[in-house]
Amino acid sequence: MSQPTGYQSAYLSGFGNEFATEALPGALPQHRNSPQRVAYGLYAEQLSGTAFTAPRSHNRRSWLYRIRPAAVHGAFAAIDAGRIASRFDTPAPPDQLRWSPLPMPEAPTDFIDGWVTMAGNGSAQAMTGCAIHLYAANRSMQGRYFYSADGELLVVPQQGRLAIHTELGLLDVEPHEIAVIPRGLRFRVALPDGQARGYICENFGALLQLPDLGPIGANGLANPRDFLTPVARYEDLEGDFELVAKFCGGLWRAEIKHSPLDVVAWHGNYAPYKYDLRHFNTIGSVSYDHPDPSIFLVLHAPSDTPGVSTLDFVIFPPRWLAGEDTFRPPWFHRNVSSEFMGLIHGAYDAKADGFNPGGSSLHNCMSGHGPDAATFDKASAADTAQPHKVRDTMAFMFETRNVLVPTPSALASPQRQGDYQRCWAGIGKHFRPTP
Ligand SMILES: [Fe+2]
Repeated sequence: MSQPTGYQSAYLSGFGNEFATEALPGALPQHRNSPQRVAYGLYAEQLSGTAFTAPRSHNRRSWLYRIRPAAVHGAFAAIDAGRIASRFDTPAPPDQLRWSPLPMPEAPTDFIDGWVTMAGNGSAQAMTGCAIHLYAANRSMQGRYFYSADGELLVVPQQGRLAIHTELGLLDVEPHEIAVIPRGLRFRVALPDGQARGYICENFGALLQLPDLGPIGANGLANPRDFLTPVARYEDLEGDFELVAKFCGGLWRAEIKHSPLDVVAWHGNYAPYKYDLRHFNTIGSVSYDHPDPSIFLVLHAPSDTPGVSTLDFVIFPPRWLAGEDTFRPPWFHRNVSSEFMGLIHGAYDAKADGFNPGGSSLHNCMSGHGPDAATFDKASAADTAQPHKVRDTMAFMFETRNVLVPTPSALASPQRQGDYQRCWAGIGKHFRPTP
């Protein structure tokens, strides 16, 4: 019997509404979350993503109606976590850092085996901070399923589509789209294009949400209706499978004799979703100066301090630049926050070269950075009486409140550009003490 596919349009800011979806008619109980007997012989199970007592506006949970409960599997045993790092207390240099794209693997490598941790902060156990991984894979996950108890996964594909089969349905994502997989949700990833590469931010802290808009008003930036959550879809499979868990920074495996993607119906507001970055309503200056990157905020994870995020996900999409008598690219700057950047497509307007699609850069707390010499010269001579369209680009930034500690393997990586600082070496002295 073919099952429905597709999406439900999402919410995200208020979380007041709930999704409800069933792959078989009548599978979803009415008016009770856990009736004495569920239709089709299903089990009821609650998946909570926030504290039980979280305020209603932030409370996130879903009820799952499934063939077997999530508890049914063998004992976990620790396995080699490969290039996944979970401790961020090693010495970190204050250097500006940049890496070339991760090469595609030569050996068969699936989505989980292909993770390489680049940087992070906080602690998975303490549920604060994040880890930033790259992935490069050339094989679909076969007979294995994964979940992270450490955090929700913000997946940013750069090359190749991902078919993310989750307990709550199928997310098909392509470069320029992002996917968010909630903490604890089990999934497997297939690669329709045979290869895939991209970025993952594993958010240990409060769940990502849409920002408030303040003086912008009721509309703008990422619009809630463009966030899509899948409809219910289940696998009724039995066999010798593997369930891999990421827990307290380590990887664990357990035998499982059935597919854990066996949820026939679900309702609630704790669910995976995707968003097409090309739908972002980009706002900028129409008079002068270059606004702070917070104007490009897609999603953020709030901290306990009002107005301060632990994690901001910011994009730099195609857009018009109209500032007059203004240096239009990002200026030279230093921040208390730390910035990990990636490039999905095209070129980034603050660098002439060296920052390529699939590449990364890290500018940590108070590390000076900004346009390279060629970009400075070009922007200083530009005719700002005319608007200019930045085309053919999609860059992004994971910006964090706390220092992003690069992993030892990232510092020693053959992809690290050891001469990165030289991009500012050509910036000349223009100072003239007389007018
Ligand atoms: Fe910056």
